[in-house]
Amino acid sequence: MSNLSSKALYLFLNIVFHLFSFHLIIIDASTSFVAAVSKDETTTTVGVMEAEALVKWKASLDEKSQSNLSSWVNGTGSSPCTWVGISCDTLGSITYLNLSYNGLKGTLEDFNFSFPNLTHLHFYSNSLSGNIPPQIGNLPKLIYLDLSYNVLTGRIPPSLGNLTNLSVLALGSNRLSGFIPQELGFLTSLSQLYLYENNLTGPIPTCIGNLTNILFVSLSSNKLSGPIPRQIGLLTSIQKLDLAENSLTGSIPHGIGNLSDLSDLSLWGNKLSGRIPPSLGNLTNLSRLHLLGNRLSGSLPQEMKNIVNLKSLALSYNKFTGSLPHNICRGGLLQNFTTSDNHFTGPIPKSLRNCTSSLRVRLDGNQLIGNISESLGIYPNLNYIDLSGNQLYGELTWKWGESRNLTVMKFSNNNISGEIPPNLGKMAKLQRLDLSLNNLIGRVPKELGSLALLLDLSLQVNQLSGIIPPTIFGMLHDLQSLNLAANNLSGSLPREIGNCSKLQFLNLSLNKFVGTIPYEIGELQSLETLDLSQNMLTGVIPSELGHLPMLETLNLSHNMLFGPIPTSFEYALSGLTTVDVSFNNLKGPIPDSKAFREASCFALESKKGLCGNNTCVKACGHVASKRALIITLLLSLSAALLFLLIFIICLLALHRRNKSKVEQRQGQNNAHDGIVFGILGHDGKRFYEDIIKATDEFNSDCCIATGGHSKVYKAVLSSGQVVAVKKLLLSEESGALIDVNAFKDRLDVVKGVANARSYMHHDCCPPIVHRDISSNNVLLDSEWEAHVSDFGTARFLKPNSSYLITSPVGTFGYMAPELAYTMEVNERCDIYSFAVLTLEIMRGKHPGDLILPLFSSSSSSMASSSLPINRHTLLTDVLDHRLRPPFINRVAQGVVSTVQLAFACLNANPQYRPTMKNIYSALGTQLPPLSKPFSMIELGELIAP
Ligand SMILES: *[C@@H]1O[C@H](CO)[C@@H](O)[C@H](O)[C@H]1NC(C)=O
Ligand SMILES: *[C@@H]1O[C@H](CO)[C@@H](O)[C@H](O)[C@H]1NC(C)=O
Ligand SMILES: *[C@@H]1O[C@H](CO)[C@@H](O)[C@H](O)[C@H]1NC(C)=O
Ligand SMILES: *[C@@H]1O[C@H](CO)[C@@H](O)[C@H](O)[C@H]1NC(C)=O
Ligand SMILES: *[C@@H]1O[C@H](CO)[C@@H](O)[C@H](O)[C@H]1NC(C)=O
Repeated sequence: MSNLSSKALYLFLNIVFHLFSFHLIIIDASTSFVAAVSKDETTTTVGVMEAEALVKWKASLDEKSQSNLSSWVNGTGSSPCTWVGISCDTLGSITYLNLSYNGLKGTLEDFNFSFPNLTHLHFYSNSLSGNIPPQIGNLPKLIYLDLSYNVLTGRIPPSLGNLTNLSVLALGSNRLSGFIPQELGFLTSLSQLYLYENNLTGPIPTCIGNLTNILFVSLSSNKLSGPIPRQIGLLTSIQKLDLAENSLTGSIPHGIGNLSDLSDLSLWGNKLSGRIPPSLGNLTNLSRLHLLGNRLSGSLPQEMKNIVNLKSLALSYNKFTGSLPHNICRGGLLQNFTTSDNHFTGPIPKSLRNCTSSLRVRLDGNQLIGNISESLGIYPNLNYIDLSGNQLYGELTWKWGESRNLTVMKFSNNNISGEIPPNLGKMAKLQRLDLSLNNLIGRVPKELGSLALLLDLSLQVNQLSGIIPPTIFGMLHDLQSLNLAANNLSGSLPREIGNCSKLQFLNLSLNKFVGTIPYEIGELQSLETLDLSQNMLTGVIPSELGHLPMLETLNLSHNMLFGPIPTSFEYALSGLTTVDVSFNNLKGPIPDSKAFREASCFALESKKGLCGNNTCVKACGHVASKRALIITLLLSLSAALLFLLIFIICLLALHRRNKSKVEQRQGQNNAHDGIVFGILGHDGKRFYEDIIKATDEFNSDCCIATGGHSKVYKAVLSSGQVVAVKKLLLSEESGALIDVNAFKDRLDVVKGVANARSYMHHDCCPPIVHRDISSNNVLLDSEWEAHVSDFGTARFLKPNSSYLITSPVGTFGYMAPELAYTMEVNERCDIYSFAVLTLEIMRGKHPGDLILPLFSSSSSSMASSSLPINRHTLLTDVLDHRLRPPFINRVAQGVVSTVQLAFACLNANPQYRPTMKNIYSALGTQLPPLSKPFSMIELGELIAP
């Protein structure tokens, strides 16, 4: 209902706005008509001078921008008042200049700021670079200045303080740096101040308290530090204050309670500490309060009970204690309520019971106590609920089935009892159902089989009994993870499980399943983890299990399986890393694969006796030893050959390196030599080992300082040098902090690597091809800036040739495909590796499983349809799940364009891959807004046709 009325209001405003702008155009047309008729001498002079200045500036822009301004031509009798984007006053002097969305590329250096009557200057969403010239302070009548969404650098000029008529100052989403000038305090007419998404540093100036007419302030996503100035309490007209994503410290000032018109307060992603001031309870108009990701503590002030009209309250990732406010939804408007990972105690707020407006509720990771059947109701709009990790009890009721819009329901790790209500099967949009670690009894209802969109079903560690209803697997075509471990389930494993072809994780361990392992499990081509341990399964291991291409972890221990391990395990399961087949009745040879060779003795324990290539078991009989002999013979033969080959390659390499060194020394570009050879001469691996030794494996005795994210150690190197070594700590705690800055840091890492590569390909003479870009060779400094290291395999390109002949080097999994059949190494191979690395940074793991199905040249429908990833996979599903999806538009746009760019770099034809220079500049340009919500973007849309 409220949704509808707000839509209606929006529509109404839209109509009013359009009528208004229509009105403006009428006036504009008539004024320029008047201007053309009036022939006053002095005003014509002003008009002519202004026109000349604009044409001169136009000439400084790039060609495309100039063609966008084709109406801007100076000639006798022509008036600038008819040019695109311009309006004048009755005397023919320019008052209004709007060049938003014009794709302008250039600087403001040649923009002559002498427009005595200009009131509006709009350059929103162009590609203007360089500094904002101080002469901008010479526009005495300026009311509206919008330079947002450009790539402007340098400081905010203090001369802006002279624009005393300014009402709107919008410089958001640029690359401005330095402090916010105190002089902005002179802008007492200012109603809107937008400096978000820049690189501004230093404190928020206290002079902000002079802006007593201000309505909207956003300084979010900068690097501002220090406390929130108490002068903020003087901004008594303010409605929206956004200081999110900075490094602000100290507590929330008491004076915030003065801001009685405030409806939107966003302070998340800072380092604020202390309690919420009780005066916050005065903000009865508050609609959005976002404090998540700080270090706030103490209980919420009693006074917060006065805030009843909240739409969105986000308190997650702080250290709050005490109980949640009872009447949080009294106004019936609450949509978003998140308090994850605090120390809240007491019951679920009473008013949540009939809070039908709720869209998203996350109270997970607290110590809440209460009966869920009494404190929760029916939520027709609810999309996401997570109450995991509390001490809630009571039963799940039929009412949940009526919450038809729910996509995620997580009640894990509470004390919930009773049976799973069959009508949970009515939640047709449900994707994740997690009721694990509770006291649920009874059966797994067969109705869950109608949750056609389900991706994740987690019911482990309960007391569920009975069989798994076979029909449950009929429609769960999208299921990726099924965990029913540690229940009392019995009967045989349903063959229908083979229908869940996207299953990646299957854990049925610690139950009472009997019968054989259905061979249909071999159809789960995406399966990575299979755990059937601690049941009473009998029979032989079906050889089909050996055909699971993605399998990494296999646990069949503690059953009653017998017979040999199928030979198919030896050849097909190349990705298997962890295996446990202990406590069965298996016998015969173990497969000669890495997982079995490196398995622990515990994992191969068997009464009947396994044999083979692992010190834990005895060697096999004659047949095997004969095979071993042949293998040994072959191995020693190839070792000898390899040795010979390496010897020859070394000789050649030595020769080439000497030669190129000589060429280098003779080269004219002396400036770069020192740096490059400095890097080349540096053996990172040995240095690392040296440091390990010198700090006694980072022994605490050597620790001389401890910071938030790092420790500093004193190290005496083998050379006698004493150095300080900084070790980054990637603990859970610091991980949570990184988490708050969504994907921003990772985009910076990609940019850093691209910058280094661009320099080496285009600015070095001769260019350097790295040949071994992988995640192992990218070092991050304390500012998360990326540096490319390990130049052991780097090669110079001869100035007059575009490639060199070489033997393949590089890290497997990052190598361009053409290196398999050609010996030509050029910059384009690095581009491919760069793309793999970029996807790895975005995914949080090597993207092999992503690249193959999307780019496989033999994309027979069979092969691709059996793999979990295709062109319709959502981008959000392949991004690193440990980070929350990007909140900020600019970061979301960055992720989309970066992935798109990476896909372009994976082109099988090296000639079609972009150059490193293109890549670096593309990563730096202003991005267009997304055409649809980030969560709906499919991979296929990011791949060039
Ligand atoms: C400026 O021009 C753009 C593009 O023509 C238009 O969308 C926008 O509404 C204009 N802005 C103002 C404030 O007139
Ligand atoms: C404002 O303009 C005056 C002269 O018109 C100049 O002296 C002063 O420095 C300017 N102020 C700032 C903050 O630039
Ligand atoms: C702020 O206001 C005070 C008092 O009105 C004034 O004295 C001071 O100069 C102003 N500061 C700035 C930076 O505008
Ligand atoms: C609250 O605002 C009044 C003026 O309206 C001001 O005098 C007072 O200092 C402010 N209080 C705080 C704590 O900022
Ligand atoms: C919830 O119930 C209470 C008491 O019955 C009522 O005052 C309140 O308006 C209801 N809220 C909503 C959102 O329906």
